Amino acid sequence: MRVLLAGATGVIGRELLPLLRKAGHHVTALARGSARDVDADAVVAADLLDAPGLAAAVAAARPEVVVHQVTALRPASGDTRWEVFERTAHVRRVGTANLVDAARAAGARRIVAQSIAFATTPSGDPVLGEDAPLFVDAPDATWAMTVQAVAELERLVLAADDLAPIVLRYGSLYGQYTLYDASGAIGQAVHLGRLPLVGDGAGLTSFLHVRDAALAAASAVEHAATGVFNIVDDEPAPAHAWLPGYAELLGAPEPKRVPVDLGERLLGWYGAFQQTRQRGASNAKARAEFGWRPTVPSWQDGVCQALSEVSR
Ligand SMILES: NC(=O)c1ccc[n+]([C@@H]2O[C@H](COP(=O)([O-])OP(=O)(O)OC[C@H]3O[C@@H](n4cnc5c(N)ncnc54)[C@H](OP(=O)(O)O)[C@@H]3O)[C@@H](O)[C@H]2O)c1
Repeated sequence: MRVLLAGATGVIGRELLPLLRKAGHHVTALARGSARDVDADAVVAADLLDAPGLAAAVAAARPEVVVHQVTALRPASGDTRWEVFERTAHVRRVGTANLVDAARAAGARRIVAQSIAFATTPSGDPVLGEDAPLFVDAPDATWAMTVQAVAELERLVLAADDLAPIVLRYGSLYGQYTLYDASGAIGQAVHLGRLPLVGDGAGLTSFLHVRDAALAAASAVEHAATGVFNIVDDEPAPAHAWLPGYAELLGAPEPKRVPVDLGERLLGWYGAFQQTRQRGASNAKARAEFGWRPTVPSWQDGVCQALSEVSR
């Protein structure tokens, strides 16, 4: 099939591109000009925020399937946290609308888009399915803006029912080039003893090896399933388990325990929320309806494996 991959140079795009080519697809990588070293069948330069340029680039690729793996989370030097999230929210809203329009105009018949599995409101069961409400009214302005933009991305994609839309809500990614890589922002904070354990550490994180994210997207290209699917591992992990375990794997000091108010001051609202109140996500729907399952079911094995792969 002819596949257009937007975000080919990102953390998921880099894993996904070779999988798609290995499966025999003709892949056009879309990037803003930094894709010279990308090993694709074709490369087109376009910005999702430039609607006419994007439409021309997508039309030239003549894709049957469009894959959306674009975020703008990679911070540029001097960016504040707010700026990084505001830029990503803008790409999720405006860039996604432009990409859906461009896909339709180019005659695509399917769209596969990236979302997140940790945007749910912290109420009800500890581990939630896809029907749980999104935390669009989170008390923190950055997180509320992020979740509202995620909700809008999903609405835009799912409304394109002529494009057999599928939204993959990834868990917290670990593995090469992610935040949890030994050289990533969280890996570094843990290594330096700057990521304390907050409160009771009962908040759940559903992790996902970046390779499993790419495998899910590759199979979504060929599958007929539509709708929203959590793509997460089998073991939602409380912070009091994963954080000390991760520190040990990194050879870092054991994280200090701090109360919630100090945790919020040190890590920001989301950092404290993740560790104390965040819900996990269930992959039951993806298993039943989409036939996907993680090749790395447990974050404990996966983080260990990912860190040893990087250090080799
Ligand atoms: N579920 C999760 O936990 C999750 C999901 C995604 C990312 N992350 C984290 O976020 C961090 C950054 O990840 P990343 O490197 O993949 O994200 P990224 O730097 O935002 O890159 C994503 C892709 O989007 C492209 N892109 C960005 N803005 C664009 C625009 N306006 N038009 C067209 N293309 C655009 C980039 O291409 P260019 O080469 O043109 O910049 C890149 O290919 C990582 O630590 C990762 O773990 C986490």
